[in-house]
Amino acid sequence: MASAPTTVTITGAGGQIGYALLFRIAAGDMLGTDRPVRLRLLEIPQGLRAAEGAALELQDCAFPLLHDVDITDDPLTAFQGANIALLVGARPRGPGMERADLLAANAGIFGPQGAAIGAVAADDVRVVVVGNPANTNALIAAASAAPHVPADRFSALTRLDHSRAVGQLAEAIGVGPGAIEGVAIWGNHSATQFPDVSHARVDGMPVLDALAERLGGQDAATAWLDDVFIPRVAKRGAEIIEVRGSSSVASAANAAIEHVRDEQRGTPWTSAAVLSRGEYGVPEGLVCSFPVTSDGDGYRIVEGVGLDARGRRRFEASVAELVAERDAVRALGVL
Ligand code: NAD
Ligand code: LMR
Repeated sequence: MASAPTTVTITGAGGQIGYALLFRIAAGDMLGTDRPVRLRLLEIPQGLRAAEGAALELQDCAFPLLHDVDITDDPLTAFQGANIALLVGARPRGPGMERADLLAANAGIFGPQGAAIGAVAADDVRVVVVGNPANTNALIAAASAAPHVPADRFSALTRLDHSRAVGQLAEAIGVGPGAIEGVAIWGNHSATQFPDVSHARVDGMPVLDALAERLGGQDAATAWLDDVFIPRVAKRGAEIIEVRGSSSVASAANAAIEHVRDEQRGTPWTSAAVLSRGEYGVPEGLVCSFPVTSDGDGYRIVEGVGLDARGRRRFEASVAELVAERDAVRALGVL
């Protein structure tokens, strides 16, 4: 093998998203076919057998890029030397359960994991949180890793929301998803998020004009965006839960892979929840979704993107939810 392996730690590796992630990462989908990987799988004791089973299957795939696989229930062992960490392990939301109910259940997981990352991860570690409530879990993990790891190395996944928005637009306009660019997800990975198409283009044409052409005018396009598109994207997670009986798996794993791939290899534009330093008036320290760019060395918020008054109100409502989550976690004594 040409280069030293990159150590990738995956928490909740014995769970559903873990199972959908492992094989694609080992095949090179996340870091490229020129980068060998070492996988470190973290589980709780009840999940270890499932992770062990996945490791047997990984061996049976004989992936040329896969250096080795370690399985543990000890965070300090799992994050030792980690270059990339995907924090997936959490309790998924079931039918009828609100995301807010998960705050307390998950707060105790991400503090100790953040502390372990701060203690033993590699100097260049980057962390993406998938487990919900992802933004606030990332905030907790980042606070717990300080001062050893800069808080801006932590992000949370809103790439799934971004892709959902692209998928909905592609269907409505009647084009392939690859024709659409410039979609942005603002705020929380929750039903309050603001999926914004005001700067999106399809084959170079403003999406708003393409929708108007397709739907019979600007008013029809605006009504579709307000009444169909925004709620459908924002509540897609709940729709998947209702239809499948459990939360999204393969699409979530795909989004996590694309999030890390673009962060590591670069992208001109996507959406990710990253640390706010006050951009767009978002309180400093929140982990909030913005349009972002990467030159291959971490995501940076794209500044100067215009939001009209209605978009601004939607974004502010989602930020208010993030503030409430942060305050609820503070009240638990976690932050
Ligand atoms: P799952 O229940 O199938 O798997 C979770 C795994 O995490 C289990 O194997 C469990 O044993 C393990 N786990 C629990 N606590 C742990 C801990 N402290 N350390 C290590 N492992 C631990 O759930 P899933 O379907 O894989 O979903 C995982 C999470 O991802 C959920 O919180 C879900 O809501 C979230 N999710 C996020 C997005 C997103 O876009 N951000 C999308 C889909 C799902
Ligand atoms: C999703 O967006 O599919 C999940 O975050 C839904 C959930 O709450 O598990």
